[in-house]
Amino acid sequence: MKPFNKNIGKDSEANLKAEHITADILIIGAGGAGLRAAIAAQERGADVIIVSKSLLGKAHTVMAEGGIAASLGDVDSKDNWEVHFSDIIAEGVYLSNWRMAEILAREAPGRVYELEHYGALFDRTSEGRIMQRAFGGHTYRRLCHVGDKTGLEMLRVLQSRVLHRQIRIMDETVVTRLFKAKGRICGAFTVRLRSGTLAVIEANAVIVATGGCGRLYMVTSNSWESTGDGAGLAYGAGAELMDMEMIQFHPTGMVYPPGAKGLLVTEGVRGEGGILLNSRGERFMERYSPTRKELDARDVVARAIYAEIEAGNGTEHGGVYLDISFKGRNFILKKLPGMYSQFMDFAGIDITKERMEVAPTVHYQMGGIRVDAESTATCIPGLYAAGEACAGLHGANRLGGNSLADILVFGKRSGENAAKYALGKRHNAIPEHEVHMESKRIASYLGRGTNPYVIAEKLRETMSTHAGIIRDGKELAEALGIVKRLKGDAKRMAVGGGLKYNKGLVECFAVNSMLLSAEAILRSALMRKESRGAHTRKDFPKKSPEWRRNIICRYSSGKMELSTADVPALPKRLAHLVKKEAY
Ligand code: FUM
Repeated sequence: MKPFNKNIGKDSEANLKAEHITADILIIGAGGAGLRAAIAAQERGADVIIVSKSLLGKAHTVMAEGGIAASLGDVDSKDNWEVHFSDIIAEGVYLSNWRMAEILAREAPGRVYELEHYGALFDRTSEGRIMQRAFGGHTYRRLCHVGDKTGLEMLRVLQSRVLHRQIRIMDETVVTRLFKAKGRICGAFTVRLRSGTLAVIEANAVIVATGGCGRLYMVTSNSWESTGDGAGLAYGAGAELMDMEMIQFHPTGMVYPPGAKGLLVTEGVRGEGGILLNSRGERFMERYSPTRKELDARDVVARAIYAEIEAGNGTEHGGVYLDISFKGRNFILKKLPGMYSQFMDFAGIDITKERMEVAPTVHYQMGGIRVDAESTATCIPGLYAAGEACAGLHGANRLGGNSLADILVFGKRSGENAAKYALGKRHNAIPEHEVHMESKRIASYLGRGTNPYVIAEKLRETMSTHAGIIRDGKELAEALGIVKRLKGDAKRMAVGGGLKYNKGLVECFAVNSMLLSAEAILRSALMRKESRGAHTRKDFPKKSPEWRRNIICRYSSGKMELSTADVPALPKRLAHLVKKEAY
């Protein structure tokens, strides 16, 4: 392809040439899934480039603190992949893709040992085995951990491996669009924030590993990057989205001080024995879940906390109490050092002596890009997705710790399969007129227009009040009306400044992705006329066997079209592991 040299209009700084970069595989996102995919693809001989919107090391992976779920059986020797598999299917409320669940349960132990070979320093039992802790909905103590900083440790070792292998990384770079030629993916358009330059990346395969869309909500554990960019890019290229209504509220986020609201309080606190109390001092989970109590699945515990607060049993700052102080200072400092510092630094609370105040916080999306279970390929040749960006594995509710297992297992698979696909193929040239159109679109965001931050704020407020833990048809429909209006406003978005470190420009791209995810969430939530897992409707409070279906969103004739598909039927060899009557 000829070097691109176009004036991008209103941006006077930006009479720029777009740099032209080639690779076999472009990976979008530098969290655990993207990094693991990069290692796997390069091991297969592919030339890989990773593009990340923020600085390397700043991924939502760090917010999976309490551990990686893998049935090593190092603490509870009865554990095995079959039990892990049946936990995923049951707690995903029978919406999970069985093959993805099987792959995860079988392959997670291997990925954990591999991570250890890469240098991860897991906590140990006194016999020197990998220490595993309890987490909600897991039958056995299954979470391999590094104190309460497991995601951070995972990123540390994956990053150092990627850097050691000299895999190319472009951080602080936003992918604005994917390109196709002759029906297959051929590259992407990017804005490099640090230099304020444009780059076109030509690649035979693209892996979307951008994480989720937690920033659609006001209270979330997710940081600014999680704006559903992957769903937006993939959908724009013709891929399908699935089960977008399934948004996970982690039961415990900080509620105070305001600047820390939503920050994750790891499930590891409850896994290590922490209990939940309401303002009357009642251990209320005994009423909601007499057997599992605090260690029931996240949807159950989050709803219970929500109900207690709604019933007027909340704390001063609008949460409930989480107490682990009775375990003693040494235990807490050893097992939960991050939580100790977090509460001490942000709230001046000593959790070895005092109770924490917590409430649900948006943490994860179970839905996302629809992929093939084995290969992580989407329906667009050359386009793959891994990690939180894709759907299928977690069904209607994800078990804690399965996200870190997911990004290792399916990150590796997507890297391998993208490499198999990309290697030996000739590059399809990126159509020049499309590059030109994209640069013009970007230029249209520079100047005077509607403020993207105002749109984002209204969107967050709408999603938080109308599409939260408990939903109903009227509110969802109202929210959809607001989103339609905001889509109109977004057509006139613009910000001052040029391309260099222009956070407002980044917000324009984010707003488009967020609006797409919001529309898919609301339409799917309206369509699913039942309550299942993370999706609870006041007007349809029961689970319905007819709705044991996946909801698919695709772009068709200028609009979003919804349909449903059967959840793939379990093969006979696995059927005995699942309680059928619970569908
Ligand atoms: O609570 C936590 O540590 C989160 C873990 C996860 O989301 O997997």
